[in-house]
Amino acid sequence: MPTERRAFLKMLSALGLSGLAGAARSAYPTLETPSAAADWCGSDHHPQPLFIPRDRGFLGRLRPDGEVVTLRAAPVRAGDDAAKAGFTLGYVARHRGRDYVNPTLVLQPAQRVRLELASTLDEPTIVHWHGLAVDARNDGSGMSLVARGGRYAYDFEVRNRSALYWYHPHPHGLTGGQAYRGLFGLIEIADDDERALRSALALVPGESEIPLILQDRRGAPYAAGESEQMHGFLGDTVLINGTACPYLDVATRIYRFRILNASNARTYRLGLRSVEGKPVPFTLIGSDGGLLASGQRCDEAFIAAAERIDVLVDMRDATLGDRLFLETRAFDPMHLEMAPNTAAAAAAHAEHAGHGSAFAEGAPRALLELRVRERLVYDRKIPPRLSTMQSVDVSKAEERPLRLGFAKGRWRINDKVFAMGETPIEVKRGTVETWLIRNYFNSMPHAMHLHGFRFQVLERQTSPDQVAALKVDARGRLATDLGWKDTALIWPGESVRIAIDFTLPFPGEQTYVFHCHNMEHEDGGMMLGVRVI
Ligand code: C2O
Ligand code: CU
Ligand code: CU
Repeated sequence: MPTERRAFLKMLSALGLSGLAGAARSAYPTLETPSAAADWCGSDHHPQPLFIPRDRGFLGRLRPDGEVVTLRAAPVRAGDDAAKAGFTLGYVARHRGRDYVNPTLVLQPAQRVRLELASTLDEPTIVHWHGLAVDARNDGSGMSLVARGGRYAYDFEVRNRSALYWYHPHPHGLTGGQAYRGLFGLIEIADDDERALRSALALVPGESEIPLILQDRRGAPYAAGESEQMHGFLGDTVLINGTACPYLDVATRIYRFRILNASNARTYRLGLRSVEGKPVPFTLIGSDGGLLASGQRCDEAFIAAAERIDVLVDMRDATLGDRLFLETRAFDPMHLEMAPNTAAAAAAHAEHAGHGSAFAEGAPRALLELRVRERLVYDRKIPPRLSTMQSVDVSKAEERPLRLGFAKGRWRINDKVFAMGETPIEVKRGTVETWLIRNYFNSMPHAMHLHGFRFQVLERQTSPDQVAALKVDARGRLATDLGWKDTALIWPGESVRIAIDFTLPFPGEQTYVFHCHNMEHEDGGMMLGVRVI
């Protein structure tokens, strides 16, 4: 085992894997004991009420109704909720007399959507609608860019099923910085399955159905130096919906949390625990591409950058005054599988296993406190069928091998880095392909995302033990692999086979991209053009 890896594991255990010795003095206590839980956000901080999106303002729910909605990429005003959260930029919008920053776009299937990006930034930008099946012109993958004062008009039809999607900038090389400064937002699509679930469980958005946007932040401004380009930009604190140390008052009923990992690079191992430290299971009901066929009881789930999970938490057995924590549990981030191949990288490793952050990836941390404040009579049941999942027919599929690795200072796909105008992946429309994505042992986890199409995970092979421990079937799949996906985390040494149906309703050649959603890897070129002919 390389020495930096041993040092890292030692540090992980000091952080709480094997006791409290180091944690008591840490600025970020872990939840090893009830007394540590009492001041879980540190002695000089107090839990704050979780920010919940309303019908205006920061993350406010906006229903486009035919009129063009203009998103102005602009500095946020001091004093508003986005600025209070520490963001300096936002997508500022005004619709039907209401003001928004980073509006949650609430869309219906088959709806025509007209949006416009107007930029006031000093650098080029463009918006990508992550997860939406739109043509290349509307995809915003970075082939067209908008300069300061410029505008870009989007006009598309909603073809996706119900799910939580999102939007963020996509100018190649500048995505990480712009997203980090505050350019991001949610897209919610509601179809009949979605409506059936809400009515079965009496879920009300903003009350019992709440989005949780996870983002880790640093005090210092964004900078992607050599260490960040290799490992990704990691923050010291985790915000949820812009709130540091958030708590939420809950009643004894079922809650739905729709979780987006909007962090630049960090993966979380999410679970719930009681104040005494007992794990509390949840029901996974959806992933990137919407509802699963049926709910899956889980103790925990990994969620990588750009992934979404949809979970139900049943608080009916709780008593008044109980507290529950949503936490990220300890795991091996497996960054050090890679032998640093430059002296500078080796030095960076030896010096900071945390890669510039006081909160190493894989270190445990409480993220959200749920406080039981109200007793309710609630007798709803989770419907046994949530949606219909049709399997992609792979009987005629051709397989495309893709290898993830590091060489000459850059993360690569099939040994290549992104080049504008080049499309190393060419696909015939209407065909089904399986992609066998293999990550070298000498690597780190990569959250691979495809634009324009959803996919299904067929199998995972040679997964690391901490991943294989969560498998739910003989094909090595995780509960989060059972639904439609647009992003999948591929661990070092792992092979993941996915199925993609390249049927496309848009005429003419369409160009998309396939990339790692660790934004620093993406900006560094871990991305390939995909041409559908
Ligand atoms: Cu979240 Cu290329 O996108
Ligand atoms: Cu490292
Ligand atoms: Cu990556």
